[in-house]
Formats: sequence, structure tokens, C-alpha cells
Amino acid sequence: MRVIAIDGPAGSGKSTVGRQLAARLELTYLDTGAMYRAVTFAAMRRGVDPSDEGPVAVVARDMDLSVDESGVMVDGVDATLEIRGSEVSRAVSQVAANPGVREEMRTRQRVWAAEHGGGVIEGRDIGSVGFPEAALKVYLTADPEVRAARRAKELTDADYDQVAADIAARDAQDSSRADSPLVEPDGAVTVDTTGLGIAAVVELIAGLVEERS
Ligand code: CDP
Repeated sequence: MRVIAIDGPAGSGKSTVGRQLAARLELTYLDTGAMYRAVTFAAMRRGVDPSDEGPVAVVARDMDLSVDESGVMVDGVDATLEIRGSEVSRAVSQVAANPGVREEMRTRQRVWAAEHGGGVIEGRDIGSVGFPEAALKVYLTADPEVRAARRAKELTDADYDQVAADIAARDAQDSSRADSPLVEPDGAVTVDTTGLGIAAVVELIAGLVEERS
């Protein structure tokens, strides 16, 4: 099993880079952020308050979840668009801090990796906790203003100041939680994407993978 782990804060380019890198290396790709977003969506849909740790962990264990290139299905409902909305974005860090949720998602991620023989896996704790044995660990980062501008451009209904405030709040929560916080994993290569285009970042990481294989 060969895992390429990509971690980093909001808007650092993980998803776009991860997808293109996977295509280039002919590996499968897993967006673990979409999994935490899907748990948040499932809880809201069932009327469970995202701050209610026990019940939210039950939702995480019970829910039917599939995340792949074609989208995100939650309990038979297509949640691909809704998980990116501001309601889910504002509640997801609280759900992701829930140890019961994290344990369940890590188990599902390991099952996915075993079934696919590894792949490009992207998130916040992939190199540090989920897959510390990864063949390559990358920590993607960029200046906060650049990250906020990228995200504001992706979301048609959001203004820059609101997006910047939301991602700053999420980064603070993700970095300060007790269970598997966002960190630069030991042994990771840090890539600052502030002044780099997508193609250049993909090229750089593909080069690192080739060097190590
Ligand atoms: O918006 P962005 O693409 O940066 O976030 P995401 O990758 O969709 O992840 C959404 C949220 O899920 C993060 O803010 C974290 O709270 C959580 N997450 C996590 O805790 N662990 C992961 N491995 C991936 C995401």
C-alpha cells in the first residue's frame, strides 16, 4: 500500500493539487475533509446539534457514506453541493474535533486505503495520525490572504471578508483541538503555494514521489 499524504489549512490548494496529482500518478484520490463535512451534513439533516458529541458520534457510525470522484452520497442523498455551503463550513470544525467522529472516519479511511492499495489522501491529520507510514508527506500552505481569495473565488455567493473570517476561525479551531490537530507532520515536505500555480505544485510533488520510488 502506497499513500501520498497531503495536509494543510483551508485554501492551501490540497483538493485541486491532490486530484491532479492522483490523475498524473494514476492513483485514486480521497478527500477526507469531504467526509467530516458529510458527517456535519448528516447530523444537521437528522436534527442533531453539531455540538452534541455523543449523538453526533452515533450519526458518524451509523451513516451510509460514499466519497469518490463523482460526488458525496450521504444516506442515499446527493450531498456534493450542500457540504460546501456556509452552514456546513461553519459547523464542520466542531464536528471534526469530536473524538468519536475522528475514530470512525479514520477507520473508514484505512478501509478505503486498503481497498484501493493506497492513493493520494488529503486532509488535516493524514501524515501525522491517519497514515504516519505514508511514502511521502506534504504540508501545503499559503499566506492567509491568498487562501481566502482563492476560496472566495470558488464560492459565488460569498464576499472576501466573510470568507477570510470563516477560514481563519476554522484554522484556529483545527489547529488547537486536542485530538489530531492540524500540524506539519514529522518528516513532511512543506510547500508554500502563495506564489505558485497549481501545475507547478503538482509538478513539484510528482517529482518528490518519483525521487522516492
Ligand atoms: O475548506 P477546506 O477544503 O480547507 O476544508 P476541507 O478539507 O473540506 O475540511 C473541512 C474540515 O474538516 C476542516 O476544517 C477540519 O475541521 C476537518 N478535517 C479534519 O479534521 N481532518 C481531516 N483529515 C480533514 C478535514
